[in-house]
Amino acid sequence: MTVLVIGGAGYIGSHTVDLLINKGYEVIVLDNLLTGHREAVHEEATLYVGDIRSLEDLNAVFSNKRIEAVFHFAAQSTVNESVKNPMQYYENNVYGTMNLLKTMESSHTKYLIFSSSAAVYGNAGKAPIPETAPLAPLNPYGETKLAMERMITWWAASSKSKYISLRYFNAAGAKSSGEIGEDHAIETHLIPIVLQTALGRRKKMYIYGEDYPTSDGTCIRDYIHVEDLAEAHLLALTYLRNGGESNVFNLGNGSGYSVKEVIAEAEKVTHANIPISIAPKRAGDPVCLVAAAEKAQKELLWLPKKSSLRQIINDAWKWHKYNPDGFKTIAKM
Ligand code: UFG
Repeated sequence: MTVLVIGGAGYIGSHTVDLLINKGYEVIVLDNLLTGHREAVHEEATLYVGDIRSLEDLNAVFSNKRIEAVFHFAAQSTVNESVKNPMQYYENNVYGTMNLLKTMESSHTKYLIFSSSAAVYGNAGKAPIPETAPLAPLNPYGETKLAMERMITWWAASSKSKYISLRYFNAAGAKSSGEIGEDHAIETHLIPIVLQTALGRRKKMYIYGEDYPTSDGTCIRDYIHVEDLAEAHLLALTYLRNGGESNVFNLGNGSGYSVKEVIAEAEKVTHANIPISIAPKRAGDPVCLVAAAEKAQKELLWLPKKSSLRQIINDAWKWHKYNPDGFKTIAKM
């Protein structure tokens, strides 16, 4: 079975490609390599360098091979950047997805597994958050994810295609073997920043806001191992191929950790002292995002295997320690 992974050179995409190949799928990757890395793509996958904003690029891939399913990871995904540059997010994320859906329709592609986000909930006001919670994004990134989800719903209703939207909470960790991991040119995510500080590559790190209404004043997130996320994508495809209907699922562990708790756990894993300073709150940051993920467990038969924060940080630490320059370290070898 041939599947297309758009954004397969990115963080979550590359881990999913790896798993798909190991499970025997024929995998084509389409990635513009603006934030993704050629070195992250499994050597047995076929890589097309192209952009979903270009119908021509999409047609080049779809006209070449019969594709049964698409995994759509390609999106800009930094909350802060989206607040500063919302139009870029609408163009990349929403317009790009519109092109993809049109192309899938004309080539009669049956299944779409879409990377959505907990950012669609905004400040849900309760934890854990079920899929039925009100959808009220706090930033343009979340707005574009919600717009894409809704566009996909209407597209599927008018075609023979089916979809699964997966609302990720905070993806973290790395492939346990240490071959691939998280590598952003400008890092904004908590766990990589904490570990870069532990490695001494940053003199200190900043905690954005210490007076949130939480037990220690810092924001709470539900960190989920990237390999568990990858697994959920495979299960989502199996679910659709077995006749399951279009659906939406949260993907998280159901446990929340504050920024300070993450730093404390990282100090234990790395045996390093992690210097911090308190900085102003970041625009568009929800107070608390914790998943109710029973639906995915029940219907997709998804069971996160690497659910402890310790293991997530451990695997991320292995990646950062041995690849301090990310994929540049690998390219040099
Ligand atoms: N944080 C710090 N200091 C840092 C980096 C982050 O205090 O140097 C804090 C943030 O303010 C936030 C928490 O750590 O409270 C987590 O921040 P991340 O940037 O790691 O993750 P976000 O929760 O902002 O966003 C991530 C993804 C989004 C996704 C969201 C869903 O980047 O794509 O999770 O939960 F939508």
